[in-house]
Amino acid sequence: MTAPTPHPSTEGRTPYPVGLLLAGRRVVVVGGGQVAQRRLPALIASGAELHLISPATTPAVQAMADAGELTWHARPYRDGDLAGAWYVLVATDDPAVNTEVSAEAERERVFCSRSDDASAATAWTPASGRDAGATVAVLTGDPRHSAALRDAIVGGLRDGSLAARQYRAHGAGVALVGGGPGDPDLITVRGRRLLADADVVVTDRLAPRELLAELPEHVEVIDASKIPYGRQMAQEAINQALIEHAAAGKFVVRLKGGDPYVFGRGGEELLACAEAGIPVTVVPGISSSISVPETAGIPVTHRGLTQEFTVISGHVGPGDPRSLTNWRAVAGMSGTLVLLMAVDKIGAIAAELVEHGRPADTPVAIVQEGTTAAQRRVDATLGTVAAVVEAEGVKPPAVIVVGEVVDVLAAAFRP
Ligand SMILES: C[S@@+](CC[C@H](N)C(=O)[O-])C[C@H]1O[C@@H](n2cnc3c(N)ncnc32)[C@H](O)[C@@H]1O
Repeated sequence: MTAPTPHPSTEGRTPYPVGLLLAGRRVVVVGGGQVAQRRLPALIASGAELHLISPATTPAVQAMADAGELTWHARPYRDGDLAGAWYVLVATDDPAVNTEVSAEAERERVFCSRSDDASAATAWTPASGRDAGATVAVLTGDPRHSAALRDAIVGGLRDGSLAARQYRAHGAGVALVGGGPGDPDLITVRGRRLLADADVVVTDRLAPRELLAELPEHVEVIDASKIPYGRQMAQEAINQALIEHAAAGKFVVRLKGGDPYVFGRGGEELLACAEAGIPVTVVPGISSSISVPETAGIPVTHRGLTQEFTVISGHVGPGDPRSLTNWRAVAGMSGTLVLLMAVDKIGAIAAELVEHGRPADTPVAIVQEGTTAAQRRVDATLGTVAAVVEAEGVKPPAVIVVGEVVDVLAAAFRP
């Protein structure tokens, strides 16, 4: 391996890294184009008193000014503009102006970053990123090299492949983490980070299994679907497992399919932990109710077609005394219905909807094991869905979508 050649502008110059605390301090940005647009958000986040000097700006920079995030002086730079500034960013597309501003900065002893010529600057802007409260800043002198390193470091921190093992970000407690619909890429950045920090993972049947393979050896994985006893008892046993491990000083991730609060018993687990005095973090997940139709080419809403979508659990069917759903009212709605846990009861549900007014020719799609390699989509209508599910051998987990949206993207998805 050969060491990378230093960028010409950095040769013989070693920057001294420092984190500037700019809140309430005057910072001047000269130039309102693409470079400023990219750099301004971090300056705004720092709380600096920002003054932008530029005859014109991009629409995005204009929006920052309109929102009061900076003061825009819509005119060319004039000598004296840097008075009282703590920091200057020069980013016009006119090298002569950039040189003039740099010269004033030098005279006024204000550190000055220059987008066009790093060798003429007195400060270099690092490629930076943030993850979980840590700021990563990389300075190599070559902006592309810096950005690539920054991406590798921030990416590694986010997916847990890079971690400060000696430092524990989390004390004992429980995180209820939505794992998304099944594809391991569809967990949130935060969910993945917490998973990488877990001592114990209590997982569900529908949580993305591939993520478990990445866990370090010492992590104890408990498969909640294998906990014996009946349904209700199983939930109590799960609550107990969460509480016991957290009480023993462990950081426990309860990894769930989809979102923890969409038919996921996340609320029950939170209440049980709260009652036992265990701190709980909840991390939202991408629910199968939206994402599974989406990956099968079905938007749950579409302008001009529907102004509502309703997500219903079909685990108890119409007429069952345990059902809390007013199916008659649901049948009267014209928008999209998304049915979860409804494969077994779809015949009774479809019949009830038709009986109370939803047309029998309303399109229906059943998406089984969405977002996984085994995903399949079967189409029917309310009138035929029971027979189609039977004939095609559709099995849970599946999301069933009822409504005109089922076909709206057909031309693009099935040419
Ligand atoms: C107990 S619910 C949990 C829902 C989950 N909390 C969510 O937000 O997606 C389980 C049901 O979600 C649906 N489901 C979850 N993941 C699915 C997937 N990958 N493909 C199809 N349906 C899925 C099925 O209807 C399944 O029976």
